[in-house]
Formats: sequence, C-alpha cells, structure tokens
Amino acid sequence: SMMVERSVRRRRAWRRVVRLLEELEEGCATPVGRLRQVVDAMAVEMHAGLASEGGSKLKMLLTYVHKLPTGKERGTYYALHLGGTNSRVLRVQLGGQRSTIIGRDLDRQPIPQNLMTSTSEELFDFVATLLKDFVEREEKGSITTQQESRELGFTFSFPVKQTSSSSGNLIKWTKGFSVEDMVGRDVSECLQQAISRKGLDMRVAVLVNDTVGTLALGHYDDEDTVAAVIFGTGTNACYLERADAIIKCQGLLTTSGGMVVNMEWGNFWSSHLPRTSYDIDLDADSPNPNDQGFEKMISGMYLGDIVRRVILQMSQESDVFGPVSSKLHVPFILRTHLMAAMHEDDSPNLTEVARVLKDTLEIPDVPFSVRRLVVNICDVVTRRAARLAAAGIVGILKKIGRDGSGGIAGGKTKVGSKNKMMRRTVVAVEGGLYTDYTMFREYLNEAMEEILGEDVAPYVVIKMTKDGSGIGAALLAASHSASSTG
Ligand code: GLC
Repeated sequence: SMMVERSVRRRRAWRRVVRLLEELEEGCATPVGRLRQVVDAMAVEMHAGLASEGGSKLKMLLTYVHKLPTGKERGTYYALHLGGTNSRVLRVQLGGQRSTIIGRDLDRQPIPQNLMTSTSEELFDFVATLLKDFVEREEKGSITTQQESRELGFTFSFPVKQTSSSSGNLIKWTKGFSVEDMVGRDVSECLQQAISRKGLDMRVAVLVNDTVGTLALGHYDDEDTVAAVIFGTGTNACYLERADAIIKCQGLLTTSGGMVVNMEWGNFWSSHLPRTSYDIDLDADSPNPNDQGFEKMISGMYLGDIVRRVILQMSQESDVFGPVSSKLHVPFILRTHLMAAMHEDDSPNLTEVARVLKDTLEIPDVPFSVRRLVVNICDVVTRRAARLAAAGIVGILKKIGRDGSGGIAGGKTKVGSKNKMMRRTVVAVEGGLYTDYTMFREYLNEAMEEILGEDVAPYVVIKMTKDGSGIGAALLAASHSASSTG
C-alpha cells in the first residue's frame, strides 16, 4: 500500500542522512594522536617561517614590538580597531599605576558590506569619520586641556609586513575583504591621510595586529602571558619570540630580548588536518582559494557555512528537510552565532533549532529527529574547530618550550627529577567564537588537557582578555610614544 511505500522511502532517506552524518564524523575526526601531529606540524612550520622569508605558509611576521606594556604608562591615548566585522574607537586614560585604565570609552560600528570591497579611500574615510565623530563627542565639554597631538594605536586585523612598529604594507586581504588598491600599500599612511582629510589632529603612533593588542593587554594584566590568540571572524595568534630565534632577520635585530611575532596562523596548513569535501568546496567558492586553510576550518566566518553545506547535501540526497530550500544555496546565510544558538538549544523540543531552520533557511516544520541531526552536525563541526585550535596553541607552547615536553624552558627544570618544575604560562584569548560560544570554549579547553596531559595542563592558563585589540593598541601607543615614561 501507499503507506508502506512511504514509510520505506522515509526509512531509506533517513539511512542516507545518517550515513552522511557518519561520513562527516569520520572526516572530522580529531583523536589525540592526530592532534599531536598537528602540534608538531605547527612547531615545525613556525621554525620554517622564522628561518627564511617565504619558508612556510606561516608568515611569522615581525612586529617590531620589543616591549610590552608594563603598567607605568601615563597619558591619554586613542585606539582604532579595524576588524573583520566591526570597527571601533576608544580612548584610554592611563594613570601610571598598574592596571588602572580610567575611562574606557567604547564605540563600535559594523563595517558596511559595500566598503569591504570598495576603494581604500572610501574604507579609510569611513574609519576616519568614526574617529573624528568620537573625538568631537568625547572632548566636548571636557575641561581637561587637549594634549599637543593626539596619539593613536591602530589595530588592523589583516596581514601586514611591518616596516616599523608604526608602519607597514598590507600583504593580502582575508575574511572576505577585497579592497584591491590597498594591497601592498602602507596602512598607516592611508589612515594618516584620511585623518588629515577630516582635519583631525592625530598621529598614528603604532600599527598592530589584533593578536598583538591582545598580547599587550594580556601582559599588562598578567606578566606570565606569552602568547595571544583570536577566535573571531578570523583566527590568528602571536607570541613573544627570542630575537636569536628569528633567523630571517639576524643582524637586523641586534637587541637582546625578544620580539612579538604575528604568526598569521590562519594560513597554516598540514596534511594532518582532517579535511572533508565540504571544506574543499568552501575553499573553492571563496574569494581566496588555497589561502587561510586553517582559518576556514576554525573561525567564526566559516563554521556556519560548513554546516549550511552539510545540510544542503543532506537535503539534496534525501527529503528529510522537505523540498530543497533555495536559501541553502546562499553562501554565509547561516551565521555562526545562529549555529551556536542551535547547538546550545537546551529546550526539550529544540524549538530554537526549529526557529533558525525556519527563519533563516526557510525550512519549516522538521520533526524532532531532524532537529537533533542538525545539532549533531553543529557539534561535529565545532568540536573539530576547537580541537584543532587547541593543537595550534600547544604548537606554540612547544616551539617556546612551554609544553612540558623535553626540557622546560626558563632554567627551572630539575634535570633527572621526576617532578619537573613548570613555569606558569598564560595565553590571552579574545574573539566572539571563544567568548560567546560555550561549546567551542569547552571543547578547546578539554582538548588542551588531553594533549598536554594532567601534569602539565594545570600550568597552562587560557585567559580571556576584554577589548585587548582596542585597549592593547592604546597601551602600545603609550609604551612606544616619546611622551610616556613607559
Ligand atoms: C585574519 C587576519 C589576521 C587577524 C585574524 C583575526 O586571520 O589575517 O591578521 O589577526 O583574522 O582577526
């Protein structure tokens, strides 16, 4: 009868999607053995990137930041952050006493979509206007006399080949930006010119990556902070490296001590990374194919889109999602925060899952089993991302001898002793994917422990900083400016 036929068909369709889910799980598998291979590959690539220009997919960019804020900085500094999604301005008053940030004024604006693919002049006019409006609002009615010239820390969250701590040229765009006339140009100069066009009196004192700002704030708050990682629209890390380990610029760096290195780890690649057909398609459809491979498996810009691709495939191969919704063909329609909302839906009927499917993907009325399936997909994709991220972090620790393997850096190893003394190591972390997506955070922390083991894990602290990409830039402007005692 028809009813029997229908139920046979339904069962067959269900079996098909379960098979696709299993394939996804297998394709995304990250057993600890594989994570360890990623750890090793990361450390190896770091070496290669430091050894010679172009020696690795990891650019290991010099920042010319030798000193991190100490807490002695004084004065008022501005910071401007041009990130992947938002732009914001803030002003920080430093009292010269440790950890006293007075008056932290925040202003955040989404970057209009059309500006991400326009001209450098339009893009920088937009941020210079934000800056000007902010300064006018902030200083209106202020009784304090204005300083000689306002000093700005500029956080530019894209790969830059620095020529000094306050200047550098854009290497390439990432995260969907494509302002072609900018590539190769001096980022500070573009901003400085836009600031002048607006008639504003302000000087770009430092140009930093968002990871570097985060490290600066992390270190300001806690001196054991040696690395910083961003999990936002994109992902990246920086850390403090010994000058003599930066082989590619020996002679240039005569200073003892170290330098912060911007890894641009979003572009990391290794054959050990678990890659699926969805990743391959996502990469091929992106404006930067073969680029930012690690970022495309981990960061907020892409996770939702991997999930969309899986659902599309399932919908095309079965009818469990009803007729294929045209929305499933729209790239990036399923934003990662919606994915997180579905993943973390704890209502008994998964009503949040149903709501996102209906409102965003125009897939109405799916039964509970299908809602569960969607939660499973989100889980697989986020778990892989978080665990690979953890492996990346341990890779850095390994490179600087803080992963507990072999000798432990800092001369605190008791050779031959069973209980080696470990140094406390702090990694500053920032970005909405980590701060707002609990499951991502938990999977990351869990994987850190798995990789490091229970003896070492307690010495490694992942610490969230707040607004490091903004405040950190202001702190660095202070520590690099002549008028500060820092
Ligand atoms: C992208 C950028 C990088 C930035 C990261 C996080 O990977 O290339 O410079 O730090 O996103 O915002």
